[in-house]
Amino acid sequence: MGTKWHLVEKELVLVEQQLQQIINKGGPEVQEVGSYVLDGKGKRIRPALFLTAVYRSGKDLQGFVDVATAFELIHTASLLHDDVIDQASFRRSRDTVNVQWNNKIAVLTGDYFLSQALKILVKYGLWDLLAITVAVVENMAEGELQQAFARVTLSDLEKLYLQWIGKKSAAFFSGCCQAGSILRRDSHEMQNLWFEFGFNIGMAFQLIDDMLDYSKAGEDTGKPLYSDLKNRVITLPLIRSISDPRDKELISKYMQTDKINEEDLEKVATLVRNGEGLSYTGQKAAEYIERALAVLDKMIGFDREKEEMLRRWTEEMLEISKR
Ligand code: FPP
Ligand code: MG
Repeated sequence: MGTKWHLVEKELVLVEQQLQQIINKGGPEVQEVGSYVLDGKGKRIRPALFLTAVYRSGKDLQGFVDVATAFELIHTASLLHDDVIDQASFRRSRDTVNVQWNNKIAVLTGDYFLSQALKILVKYGLWDLLAITVAVVENMAEGELQQAFARVTLSDLEKLYLQWIGKKSAAFFSGCCQAGSILRRDSHEMQNLWFEFGFNIGMAFQLIDDMLDYSKAGEDTGKPLYSDLKNRVITLPLIRSISDPRDKELISKYMQTDKINEEDLEKVATLVRNGEGLSYTGQKAAEYIERALAVLDKMIGFDREKEEMLRRWTEEMLEISKR
């Protein structure tokens, strides 16, 4: 984890232990797949954001570790399902569960992870957090569905894309931040600022993810190149590469064929790589990061150390957006 999240580092170690314990308590099937999933180390951004929002200097955060664990479980569940949907073969530098086992095992393990997350929130009777979580999952499913149904021939694609990623990614970041702020008993105004911070960071995060999918710089993400294109996922780099009717026709044809024609794939990928779509997506991400930084500025009376930590992390994202 490094010292990136130094204020909540102890709790993040406890989250790791808690995840392991949940897996160990499951049957042998859960243990087998679950430990494989946990070994592929994720960045644990959602629990880190939640714990940071709930952090108060000098206060014991142990009681919040379970909730942070719940958020990581939901994230893991969504990735297990997402890799089935995207037919992805590689994540976190290892084969996905759908490849290592099969789709059935991946979907069911995802369901199990989701149930364990909800169980934690029910156990503590955290109804407001449960409401936030249900809304997050609802948004994720809806955003994914809308993106899956989309066609490149639709008008206002960029606006639609921002709505999809708002739902499928940013809503989760804002939910984690808002949840932490609620449990910290912040004012409503402060809770809203946390929500806004999370939303902007979440938007930037997905924009960068979609940009890296087309660029060599994305190699350290542990995911292969052009996976969105191979899975016919319409993202901003592609949307911004449609500059004339001929491009539109080529992209539209490629996106509608079931079997991948390597030559067409290469043509569309080259179009995206040579066009302005990638730099535009990076600029958009930077805009959202600037907004997130502006929200941090508005958090009057905000813990200085905490602000510094978040600012550094946010600025690091800004660097990646410029790659
Ligand atoms: C990654 O997107 C996926 C998401 C942000 C959301 C996935 C959500 C669902 C499948 C809904 C079901 C949710 C639960 C909790 C069971 P991506 O494909 O752009 O990112 P990637 O590059 O990491 O694959
Ligand atoms: Mg995916």
